[in-house]
Amino acid sequence: MSNGQTVRVGLIGTGNIGKIHLTGLSSLKESGLLDVQVTALCDTDKESLSLASNLFEVPIVYEDYMALVNDENVDVVYVCTPTNKHMDMVKAAAKAKKQVFCEKPLAHSCPQASEMLGVVIDSKVKSVVGLVLRYDQFLLYAKKLIETHSFGRPMLAHIRDDQRFPIGYLYRSKWRGVKSKAGGGTLLEHSIHDIDIIRWFFGDVVDVFAKVNYFSGKDVEDHASLILSHKNGAVSTLDSVWHWVDRPNERSIEFFFEKGYLAINLESGKRYLEYQLADEPPIRIWQEKADDVLLERLGLHSKNSISPDAVETLTSIGGERYAALSYAFLNAVTNGDEPTPSFKDAVAAHRIVDAAYESAAKRRPVGLL
Ligand SMILES: NC(=O)c1ccc[n+]([C@@H]2O[C@H](COP(=O)([O-])OP(=O)(O)OC[C@H]3O[C@@H](n4cnc5c(N)ncnc54)[C@H](O)[C@@H]3O)[C@@H](O)[C@H]2O)c1
Repeated sequence: MSNGQTVRVGLIGTGNIGKIHLTGLSSLKESGLLDVQVTALCDTDKESLSLASNLFEVPIVYEDYMALVNDENVDVVYVCTPTNKHMDMVKAAAKAKKQVFCEKPLAHSCPQASEMLGVVIDSKVKSVVGLVLRYDQFLLYAKKLIETHSFGRPMLAHIRDDQRFPIGYLYRSKWRGVKSKAGGGTLLEHSIHDIDIIRWFFGDVVDVFAKVNYFSGKDVEDHASLILSHKNGAVSTLDSVWHWVDRPNERSIEFFFEKGYLAINLESGKRYLEYQLADEPPIRIWQEKADDVLLERLGLHSKNSISPDAVETLTSIGGERYAALSYAFLNAVTNGDEPTPSFKDAVAAHRIVDAAYESAAKRRPVGLL
């Protein structure tokens, strides 16, 4: 850090998610939550670079990521480029002893992700991966409920995640339909988030049975259905679809325990959590109540201890998870704590994804132990 305080960020990839992070970082600064400054930007697309530099008032711009990584005004590097570019950029940043934020998926495969984990460990730099659902207020609320109430043993998790094919429409993505760039489709590129949730809640997976389909004719899958057996005896199922229907993206999550049920609906505007314990009536939790648990997770114990702008930055729907993850990561960088979700968490999710692709190809379950 320049003066022992200001965290100086350099961000590579000023596209869709890069701009979301830049918005989060500037809100963290403006609301007084963090002493952070984005000092440099990099993109090979001149127009995107110039737009972001003007919008976020970042004076130093590069078209070559090595120049950003080696800039002495940069302490922390955000890697927000298409997935096939992550590995080289993370390696360069770690070699330059910069702390690293890398977007998910880390890479195209588990061996590549493991190599990246090895590099950040060897370089002794802090690192975090953009598995942002770890900072979703409803999921954090669910975690707390399970820890503090008698739900009993976990039996079944089910996640159904659907998105409009992210090529045109919202993302206008030039690379998501191309396997050599994205590495995979709805399972790797999007539902690695769901795999991470499943592991986070139900623990280690011992085997996976999967079916994937390519309805669109592209070389990335647009459907994946998985059955995952957990070490604790529970089973999770995941249905992930990229379709062409003009409907809001929706992530619907259900957890069945022997004596409890939890349902969480995310993304679509119908965001809520509902739970029920044994013979008690169901209880529905709306966002405001769940926000308190997110703030607690971030070490901010009361809404009254920070400004309304700060509360808005960390909890308002849209960019909130990204700002919350940046807040947690950059605080860990300054305090010397270990940030989460770690590259190790990401590698564990990649392992499951790789096993699912193998299972689909071999048409049989694949073990992970
Ligand atoms: N955590 C999340 O929820 C989340 C959401 C969306 C995207 N992502 C991930 O973020 C990454 C980027 O996705 P996106 O939607 O922002 O893509 P995008 O195409 O909108 O943006 C990527 C940017 O990187 C730039 N770029 C490409 N190669 C480059 C290079 N060599 N040097 C510098 N810049 C380069 C492109 O010009 C583009 O501006 C992907 O890995 C994606 O999976 C994560």
